[in-house]
Amino acid sequence: MDVEVKKKNSLKGVISVPGDKSISHRAVMIGSIAEGLTEVENFLVAKDTLSTVECMRKLGVDIKLEGNRVKVYGKGLYLSKSSEVLDVGNSGTTIRLLMGILAGQEFETILTGDDSIKRRPMGRVIVPLTLMGAKIEAREGNFAPVKIRGGKLRGIEYKMPIASAQVKSSIMLASLYAEGMTVIEEPALSRNHTELMLQTFGARIEIDGKKIFCYPGSKLKGQKIIVPGDISSAAYFIVAANLLPNSEVVIKDVNVNPTRTGIIDVLKDMGGNVELINERYVNNEKIADIVVKSSKLKGIEIGGDLIPKLIDEIPVIAVAAVFAEGTTVIKNAEELKIKESNRIKSMTSELGKMGAKIFETEDGMIIEGTGFLRGAEVESYNDHRVAMSLWIAGLLAEGRTIIKKGECVDVSYPDFYKTFDML
Ligand code: S3P
Repeated sequence: MDVEVKKKNSLKGVISVPGDKSISHRAVMIGSIAEGLTEVENFLVAKDTLSTVECMRKLGVDIKLEGNRVKVYGKGLYLSKSSEVLDVGNSGTTIRLLMGILAGQEFETILTGDDSIKRRPMGRVIVPLTLMGAKIEAREGNFAPVKIRGGKLRGIEYKMPIASAQVKSSIMLASLYAEGMTVIEEPALSRNHTELMLQTFGARIEIDGKKIFCYPGSKLKGQKIIVPGDISSAAYFIVAANLLPNSEVVIKDVNVNPTRTGIIDVLKDMGGNVELINERYVNNEKIADIVVKSSKLKGIEIGGDLIPKLIDEIPVIAVAAVFAEGTTVIKNAEELKIKESNRIKSMTSELGKMGAKIFETEDGMIIEGTGFLRGAEVESYNDHRVAMSLWIAGLLAEGRTIIKKGECVDVSYPDFYKTFDML
């Protein structure tokens, strides 16, 4: 489906964004392997998280969904064999985290997904899970479909070669089935929702800097989880309200876990007017309302340990950089090449079509702040975050912009276009 967007003059209003995608996936998965009932409020109802619900149901878990409330009747650590192949759709979080749980199950499961999933590397979880004792086969040893047979596992000490929340979460979930302690070390801190949620459910997980100690023998107990708004969805409104003149937007109840707020740190460094109010904690997670006003931005350099804290927001940061004064350099972001699409290529080519001076580098991009875009016909590459970022570009561009396959926003934010039109 083609989606059309025209220039907007300003953005004003108070909104909420849907529940956090990472936390929604985890609430259903961890609830499934906990004992007793887990009730989830403000669950993200979108394609990716529904893929997780469907996979857990196929593994014998009773899950009831009513609007954005979910009841998960946990089965304890051990699930039932699925008679069907599990289809994770477009969801990298579903396949990688689920492999951690399946590594502890004494049966065989086959996992597959869409064309994008079949191109994304699974070796990064296959290596540690195999060291723990799981038997895993994959196409070329690295790609879905993946066949996994689990069983009794052993704890490992694992130094991760890349900062990845999906990889560390997969190992942490497998550690629940292991004899002995599991110690994971990350090169830089990625989002820590699994650590926080496992602790909420009663697991013994200790953190020391970039090291995580998972003690054996933890039992999980069902919980009530209230999912906060997703900062990755809020990011589009945050950038748009900064860039459009005379704008003021309040985004209520957003998760501002410090491992996720890189977008706010960067916009502030660029001179953006972004403020957190009403800060509080729910289920170990920090929450706040975000107030954003129009501001004049300047280009900066973004890289290093900050990258995992804003990895999903880089496409929309690229749009902000076009309207910032001076040059923005994004580096150490090679992980972007293996997301739902190659996001370095997707953004440089499509913003390029709109007249941006944006260049691809080995590990990121360089953007010259020319302050101007013109409407064009652009491709989403079936990547939700590319589609939403190009929509923001379209709001700022002269003339009209057509986004091809714009419906892919269903993966994380089905009401995205509607919410923008309402403002
Ligand atoms: C996610 C972790 C990130 C992120 C993805 C969701 C998660 O991926 O890009 O959208 O829920 O754990 P990596 O951990 O692979 O960097």
